[in-house]
Amino acid sequence: MRISVGSDHRGVAMRQKIISLLERLGQEVIDVGAHGTEPVDYPDIAAAVAKGVSRGEADRGILICGTGLGMSIAANKVPGVRAAPCHDDLSAELSRRHNDLNVLCLSGDIVGEKIVDRLVEIWLNTPFEGGRHARRLDKIRTMEGENGNGRCPSQA
Ligand code: RB5
Repeated sequence: MRISVGSDHRGVAMRQKIISLLERLGQEVIDVGAHGTEPVDYPDIAAAVAKGVSRGEADRGILICGTGLGMSIAANKVPGVRAAPCHDDLSAELSRRHNDLNVLCLSGDIVGEKIVDRLVEIWLNTPFEGGRHARRLDKIRTMEGENGNGRCPSQA
């Protein structure tokens, strides 16, 4: 798979660890930064990863910020992106089985170094179940269309 990976300044160390893991697993990595410890705005990084996934330039994305929350809020504004923070094995597994999560958001501050590789591997290897979950995702796609690709009608 081709996986786009990005972090803000609070996730740089975790991003580097995840990139090493992905490379060991033979995945193709697109690293969108951030490349230093200077503070950056997480929506800029979320946009780079999410737009790459939305356009099909990457199969999936991984985003890391302090909490994983800001990245997921921003990434979900991009059509076709299903992003959420996962902090444990079960959320990583169900995010794939039920939600077909294509952008994994992680917390550089909360998720421990010891479990992050496991979370990423679970998320990489767990299939989407389809069936009733596919019907629910179709409803989310309909909402995206109704709202003009993620913008609220009141802002149109
Ligand atoms: C940056 O200080 C912090 O707000 C960011 O990393 C993230 O936690 C936002 O949700």
